[in-house]
Amino acid sequence: MEIIIKTFHGLEEVLAEEVKSIINRSCQLRKRAVFVDQITHQELYTLNKQLRTALRILVQHSSYTVHSYEDIYSALRTIKWEELFYHHNTISIDSTVYSQYFKNSQFVMHKSKDAVVDHFRDLYNKRPSVERKNADIRINIHITERKMTVSLDSSGESLHKRGYKQAEVRAPINEVLAAGLIKLSEWDLVKPFWDPMCGSGTIPMEAALLKYNIQSQFKRDEFCFRHWKTFDKKSWQQMKREKLTPKTPSSPIYGSDIDTDVIFDLEKQLRSAKLQSHITVKKQNFFQTKELNEERILIFNPPYNKRLGLEDAKGFYKMIGDTLKQKCKGSSAWIFSGDKEAIKFVGLRPSKKIILYNGPIEARFHKFDLF
Ligand SMILES: C[S@@+](CC[C@H](N)C(=O)[O-])C[C@H]1O[C@@H](n2cnc3c(N)ncnc32)[C@H](O)[C@@H]1O
Repeated sequence: MEIIIKTFHGLEEVLAEEVKSIINRSCQLRKRAVFVDQITHQELYTLNKQLRTALRILVQHSSYTVHSYEDIYSALRTIKWEELFYHHNTISIDSTVYSQYFKNSQFVMHKSKDAVVDHFRDLYNKRPSVERKNADIRINIHITERKMTVSLDSSGESLHKRGYKQAEVRAPINEVLAAGLIKLSEWDLVKPFWDPMCGSGTIPMEAALLKYNIQSQFKRDEFCFRHWKTFDKKSWQQMKREKLTPKTPSSPIYGSDIDTDVIFDLEKQLRSAKLQSHITVKKQNFFQTKELNEERILIFNPPYNKRLGLEDAKGFYKMIGDTLKQKCKGSSAWIFSGDKEAIKFVGLRPSKKIILYNGPIEARFHKFDLF
């Protein structure tokens, strides 16, 4: 199989390294994605279960040159869908269109859906029903100018939905992005780790999964590939039995936040994910930090706008800088922020600057060495 693994802009190389470390295969870098060929079913399952910086994995099926919406329909009618899945499966169609010839991506989806449905109706007089959310089978149509590629989404729900969070929380960072930040920071997994504005705990949770070598999807069992006709149950079960080599390092991972409710929810969440012994959490105002007696790596995303209760972003970031300078000597701090102006008010010269995208928002990830 040929696969496209999607990720955030800026995490392509990190993702390629992850693929290399899991299945020992090189990738071609693409925009917000990497490409790998000659993938077995077992490898596909493993990548879905273990990759930390992947959003979804598409398996490419076929490519066509198309000139009209009718061509899209005709091309899709030639695919033997009945060999891929069952008529009783629910389906959804996603499309990404970058083309001056096809301006209406809704119509692309509509034509594609008709082709699949008509195919099953002609064969069995029965048709799969369309479900926007949580469909068993997700078909992906990608059009660049006149080239159309049809893929099956092997993941289903985005892989950032790890299944370890119960409650909906305010402004959490995406899990894939959090894992990417930790990888980019080149944390050695040994230095004590601290997110001093941890909110729902995404960054320390991802740090713990990485440090203790726990699969990113340790809580998730639902993936679209499990509905495919080619699903190899034996390989899947064998893969699930294989445990990663657990690591038992001694240095701590801390998460703290000023908000009592947030900490209460996080403690509950850690207990339910059975990660409570891996992360130490407490309510703490970062600006009242006592001088640290150990060198830590700090990674955090402070609030950056009014929506997150921040009236004076500049003043707030200046206080972050002052606290880092005065209380965290010897440590290094990485700050991720969607406000590229406010981050300048930290008042320290960053030793590394990385540009990332949090969805459509251009964000900054800066490293400060605190001598
Ligand atoms: C953007 S959110 C962090 C989101 C978090 N990474 C997550 O995934 O849920 C910023 C957090 O900073 C916390 N915060 C704001 N001021 C703080 C302070 N002075 N000390 C500690 N935490 C603070 C807020 O309570 C909020 O939870």
